[in-house]
Amino acid sequence: MVLAPFLLLLLLLPLLNVSATTPDPCELDDEDIRCVCNFTDTEPDWSSAFQCVSAVEVEIHGGGRSLKQFIKFADTDPKRYIDVVKALRLRRLTVGAAQVPALLLVAFLRGLGYSRLNQLTLENLEVTGTMPMPPLEATGPALSTLSLRNVSWATGSAWLAELQQWLKPGLKVLNIAQAHSLAFSCADLRTFHSLATLDLSDNPGLGEHGLAAVLCRNKFPALQELALRNAGMETPSGVCAALTAAGVQPRRLDLSHNSLRPTATGAPRCTWPSALSSLNLSSAGLEQVPEGLPAKLSMLDLSCNRLSREPRPDELPTVSELTLDGNPFLDQEDSRNSGVNTACATSTLATGMSGTLVLLQGARNLV
Ligand SMILES: *[C@@H]1O[C@H](CO)[C@@H](O)[C@H](O)[C@H]1NC(C)=O
Ligand SMILES: *[C@@H]1O[C@H](CO)[C@@H](O)[C@H](O)[C@H]1NC(C)=O
Ligand SMILES: *[C@@H]1O[C@H](CO)[C@@H](O)[C@H](O)[C@H]1NC(C)=O
Repeated sequence: MVLAPFLLLLLLLPLLNVSATTPDPCELDDEDIRCVCNFTDTEPDWSSAFQCVSAVEVEIHGGGRSLKQFIKFADTDPKRYIDVVKALRLRRLTVGAAQVPALLLVAFLRGLGYSRLNQLTLENLEVTGTMPMPPLEATGPALSTLSLRNVSWATGSAWLAELQQWLKPGLKVLNIAQAHSLAFSCADLRTFHSLATLDLSDNPGLGEHGLAAVLCRNKFPALQELALRNAGMETPSGVCAALTAAGVQPRRLDLSHNSLRPTATGAPRCTWPSALSSLNLSSAGLEQVPEGLPAKLSMLDLSCNRLSREPRPDELPTVSELTLDGNPFLDQEDSRNSGVNTACATSTLATGMSGTLVLLQGARNLV
């Protein structure tokens, strides 16, 4: 991966012919905290990454190129760089826009195993080739947060199980957006004993069936929060059924930015996890409060929907904190409607939703 060159360049720097003509691809802020590299040049000066060595937060973009050329470094004996890696202040790392051989990715994770990195983000990556045999004991970093956005794996649906074997246990937050494959084989997946937050937002193709398959039974025993924004969910009760089938017991569930429809009459009722206390149904195109919601909640967000009248108490669960902003019935009640609509549109943009969704949301607010 890109950081492997970065680490290895430290050792190999004297051998490299550093060109001084091109503008510096890397920039370190004045506080020595954040360092961002963008290697867009056709012949990037990789050694520029050297200045990121003191940073706490490093972001590296590979300009979409293949990192095959660095594969020869994958065999480097860790002893040659352990001390350097141990001395790094690096805590958060983002690597994006590159094609990475799986062998290099694994070497990179092994190297980071000696670091104090706790948040790793991979985005817009294509991981090529198959993963090598996993080590007997996980040798990679002890991450608390792993975020993946638009990462494709030549190894297909086995990717999470394979990646997991290189990470030390203890992961608390896992974000997977724009996944190319979420059809994991549950048997191969190890239990995520400490995982409290699973965010599968921005996977519009997932759907309720996909959800039931992803939430491998007994693999997420500590799950507290499940985010499913823009994940192709269709009805709250369909989601409830998927949670029940998987035996997960989240406290907080985010179903915002899905186009939810009313539960078909006669559909089987579902018993929600008893721990569920917070449900977000914001921006879900709802014209009425869906039936079959949990009977008691501490938070229910119904903002930015299409409710044309105020919900009657008997339609709502017992809820201590209810949000109804940005619904048409409020426009009729007070004339500050443009203000409400702006709030909905802004929150949509702020969550980084796809352009289409923003447009839909905008159109919805204009109606
Ligand atoms: C990297 O640089 C290219 C070209 O200058 C630009 O289009 C791209 O947005 C930059 N990427 C990041 C993450 O800054
Ligand atoms: C996803 O990542 C690939 C590189 O692997 C890139 O070519 C593509 O533009 C990315 N897609 C989006 C929507 O960013
Ligand atoms: C519900 O989701 C929306 C959109 O994703 C977000 O703006 C809002 O803050 C969430 N509500 C709560 C109470 O967290």
